[in-house]
Order: sequence, then structure tokens, then C-alpha cells
Amino acid sequence: MDMEKIEEEIRKCRKCNLWKSRKNAVPGEGNYSADLMVVGEAPGKKEDEMGRPFVGKAGQILNEIFEENGIKREDIYITNVVKCRPPKNRNPLYDEIKACFPYLEKQIELIKPKLILTLGNFGAKVIMELYGFKAYSITKMHGKIFDSPLHQIKILPTFHPAACIYNPLLKEKLYNDIKKLRDFLK
Ligand code: URA
Ligand code: SF4
Repeated sequence: MDMEKIEEEIRKCRKCNLWKSRKNAVPGEGNYSADLMVVGEAPGKKEDEMGRPFVGKAGQILNEIFEENGIKREDIYITNVVKCRPPKNRNPLYDEIKACFPYLEKQIELIKPKLILTLGNFGAKVIMELYGFKAYSITKMHGKIFDSPLHQIKILPTFHPAACIYNPLLKEKLYNDIKKLRDFLK
């Protein structure tokens, strides 16, 4: 199955209860043969309205940091662990993550990125465990590149840009982690 088909399937999906409150599912977007894949948590209000990932406030911060490090959004693929917005931006539930996970797995399989950058706790946990790593808190894992030679993939967990909006210290850490990413991509 190709990426357009998966994205189409996600837009019509009703595999968990989140379809009831969403305006638009947000499958993800970008380059289908990207070296870098970015995995966030779940769509927010703006993303739900537009059906596109990271187009709100968190997306602005992300764009800013990427731009400063020469990373172009059109070169990467961006998606989320959960493709539909949880009501009032609550955390996604275990059952929702489980129902949605096969989409993310298929997306990774098709894109075959060299590195996955995860944003926030949920992305880190889901991706680390997918590749057989034990997931610790994001504070412990952030900024390290985890290498899985078996799957020919690397994982770099970092903080969620939304968590950095009112926290300059965290934003600085996010910046430093993205610098590591830039050095890796060079
Ligand atoms: N936060 C996320 O985790 N993903 C988005 O797409 C937007 C905000
Ligand atoms: Fe389907 Fe995922 Fe949306 Fe749930 S969150 S309805 S599993 S696309």
C-alpha cells in the first residue's frame, strides 16, 4: 500500500472514539522518501481545523528552530502518534494510541527514514519501544541518538515544542538537541 492510500484511509478512519470529535484527521505530510521523520503527539486545535500537522503555535516554534538549522519542512516527513485531536487537547489514551499505531508503523515502513526525531513523551515512548529500547522519561532521554543497527534506524528524542512556549530553559534544550540533529544530517 502506498502513502497516499494510507493518508486517505486515515482521513476516513473510525478505529477509535476520536473520530467522533475531530473536524479533520491529520495523517501527516512531507517528503515520502525523507531521511528525517518527525513524530509528535497528537493534532491540536489548528491542526484539526486544517488537517495538517504542526501548523499552530507549536508548529511555529518548530519551523523557527528547523529554519535556523537549515532543516526544510519539504525535505522531511512530519506526523503524530495519534492522528485525530483528543478533545480539549487531553493526552491520548492507551487504547487510542494502540488503535492508531499501525498507521505510524506503515508510514515508517514506507519512508524508511535514517532517523526519527520524537517530540514529547508519547512519541518517545512509542518509538523507543517499537525498536526494543526501554523508554525513560524525556528528561533522561532527550538529546541522545539511539542507534538500532538491527532496524537500520536512529532515534533522537527531544522535548515537545508546545512545552517550550512558556519555558525558556526547555526551549534552549530543544535548540541544543536540534543542533545535534543538524550535525548528524550533515
Ligand atoms: N502538537 C503535536 O504533537 N502535533 C501537532 O501536529 C501539533 C501540535
Ligand atoms: Fe483512527 Fe487514529 Fe483517528 Fe483513532 S486517532 S480515529 S485510530 S486515525
